[in-house]
Amino acid sequence: MEIINVNLKNYSYPIYISNGILANIGQYLKNHLRSRRVIIVTDSNVSNIYLQKVENTLSKDGFVVNHSVIKAGEESKNLDTVKRLLEECFAFGLLRDSAVLALGGGVVGDIAGLVAALYMRGIDFIQIPTTLLAQVDSSVGGKVGVNLDEGKNIAGTFYQPKAVFIDTSVLKTLNRREVLGGISEIIKYGIIKDESLLDFFEINMGKILNLDDDMMKYLIKRSCEIKSDVVSKDEKENNIRAVLNYGHTIGHALESITQYKKYIHGEAVAIGMYYAAKIALNRRYIDESYLLRIKNLLVSSGLPVDYGNIDKYEIVEGIKHDKKNREGKIKFVLPVGHGNAEIFDILEEEILNVLN
Ligand code: NAD
Ligand code: GLY
Repeated sequence: MEIINVNLKNYSYPIYISNGILANIGQYLKNHLRSRRVIIVTDSNVSNIYLQKVENTLSKDGFVVNHSVIKAGEESKNLDTVKRLLEECFAFGLLRDSAVLALGGGVVGDIAGLVAALYMRGIDFIQIPTTLLAQVDSSVGGKVGVNLDEGKNIAGTFYQPKAVFIDTSVLKTLNRREVLGGISEIIKYGIIKDESLLDFFEINMGKILNLDDDMMKYLIKRSCEIKSDVVSKDEKENNIRAVLNYGHTIGHALESITQYKKYIHGEAVAIGMYYAAKIALNRRYIDESYLLRIKNLLVSSGLPVDYGNIDKYEIVEGIKHDKKNREGKIKFVLPVGHGNAEIFDILEEEILNVLN
């Protein structure tokens, strides 16, 4: 078992990483909660595979367990779902010392976290991420929220979990596309913080794509360490946390323009990372060979780097609504050398140039 601590003073919490931890999660959970009354929030896919197992083990350990199942997919990430879940929390008799357990991918985690933050002004929250993306990114760091028609993650807050439980065995039931969505975020960590991750991918790509357990544990652990370190230094994204959004500026615009139907999150981020690297090349922050390395890595893992026939002016319009922007200036995370990235103001023309 690997344990990583997210250091946030009074809100610090552990991330447990192990193959099979779901089978006895109750034993660990006891140490992190004030009562045994919990609600599991999960989605219509994950519930079919893992809900019964988690409910059984928790009941065996004396927990009083209810569950709510949302329809799988980004379309559920809205305020209507939050309202329904809050009402179910009340109907199940959850009190201020009860807890919300998010069992699922980033969609479940983001919604369940917001519900935990709102219910009776905030009850305990536990993340049990089941997608690779959620295990390396969304379950750590406390960003929770839902989309509005106007844009992605517009209604949300920061609400840290009491603990994160990562079971690598659940990755076996993920489809290939979802695995790659997570790989995209791990490559992101390599580009912005740790070049050795890029070497690791280049050497071990075959084993990684086959979900070799040791490889996955290493990648998840290293990703959680990097994310925890950044979040510990800047929890509320006043400055450096924004580097975690590398690739997300164009990525979010692509997701939003295509109504979250064409790309999964990690695919849109992969395209965004490539174009952001092209802007960095034009500014001479990186050289041609590093751009090619980034592109090759994304392509050889099976991720897209092309935005197809979407209107580039529409992409720029989408980018203007990005949450990082300040006083009309477009903020962009750009790689600056190997394993390093910074935040810059950039001009609309620079984006249009690379989208050409
Ligand atoms: P997701 O939650 O939609 O899960 C993807 C699909 O995989 C779903 O159909 C789900 O039912 C299925 N699934 C989940 N676990 C499974 C398993 N073990 N076996 C089989 N199927 C499984 O998508 P995601 O990629 O996990 O998360 C994307 C969301 O996360 C987006 O809404 C994004 O905005 C958000 N996000 C949040 C943060 C954050 O810091 N809060 C960071 C990154 C992304
Ligand atoms: N996924 C970006 C962040 O958590 O800040």
